[in-house]
Amino acid sequence: MILGVETSCDETAVALVTHDGKILANVVSSQADLHARYGGVVPEIASRHHLELLLPVLREALAEARATMDDVGTIGVTVGPGLIGALRVGTAAAKALAWARRLPVVPVDHLHGHVASLYLEPEPLPPPFLCLLASGGHTMLLDVRDESGYVVVGTTLDDAAGEAFDKGARLLGLGYPGGAEIDRLSRDGDPEAFSFPVARVSGHDFSFSGLKTALLYTVRDLPPRELEQRRADLAASYQRAIVRALVERTLAAAESLGADRVAVVGGVAANSELRASLPKAVAAPLPLCTDNAAMIASAARYGEAIQYPHYLALDAYAAA
Ligand code: KG4
Ligand code: ZN
Repeated sequence: MILGVETSCDETAVALVTHDGKILANVVSSQADLHARYGGVVPEIASRHHLELLLPVLREALAEARATMDDVGTIGVTVGPGLIGALRVGTAAAKALAWARRLPVVPVDHLHGHVASLYLEPEPLPPPFLCLLASGGHTMLLDVRDESGYVVVGTTLDDAAGEAFDKGARLLGLGYPGGAEIDRLSRDGDPEAFSFPVARVSGHDFSFSGLKTALLYTVRDLPPRELEQRRADLAASYQRAIVRALVERTLAAAESLGADRVAVVGGVAANSELRASLPKAVAAPLPLCTDNAAMIASAARYGEAIQYPHYLALDAYAAA
């Protein structure tokens, strides 16, 4: 089986996946509560907690799969993009585990990992397809022709969609991470109550910074009592604008590229309005939308394995 390790942000994750894509264990320990008091992820705190959590999470994954390290044939690990210190904890752990047993290591690109969340059992999606990847760090349209990679056809010019959700949540006085909070609150609000702009940039790119500023001004201009009463309306209208931008851009790209199939992955793919607004698209299963290691082990199946001792020189990278 393949051992997947993911530590690019604030989730410490280890998974065990078979070569044909069955998930045997998928353990994610989120540090979100630890970072919430700071309103966002503090990189140094994330690195330290990865260090503390990685071995317990590995033990839990092995127990869940009723396996031991003897059953592991390959280790797949996220090498970037992400927080460099956090990534280094994961890569160092993967290298040490592999070195001790002379196992090969497959370096995995985190974005390829999100796409590979679609290749797992029980309902793997075979390429080709156009993939909307919307997470806290990235918002991209990817032309996926085979399992080994993707071609970027569009990207955000400023904030990622998840970042827009998180910053919006903060302006509305909701917790961190904000996407799920806005999603929940929006159910009680009127999405047409406020009209927020949907940026139209050229090509297949996205832009969310204007939207965030529009929310900032709206919140600032509302008297405190009204703000309190209309929080759900604000959340619903703001979510509607983000989802509309994602859906419009994705469908336009699908049409211009002649893509028959559309898929959605990444943390924002968990959003209920986005999932409902793209009824024909294949969305990643909910537990595989936000960061996890099953998707990393899945991607490792299609990556290049580095044999001992060459991976000892492997390093992480912060930006793609
Ligand atoms: O993929 P992910 O776990 O991490 C990155 O690679 O960035 O995505 C995290 C992002 C956060 O910005 C979070 O607010 C957002 O996904 N998110 C959501 C929902 N659940 C998580 N955004 C909108 N609606 C949700 N239900
Ligand atoms: Zn991610």
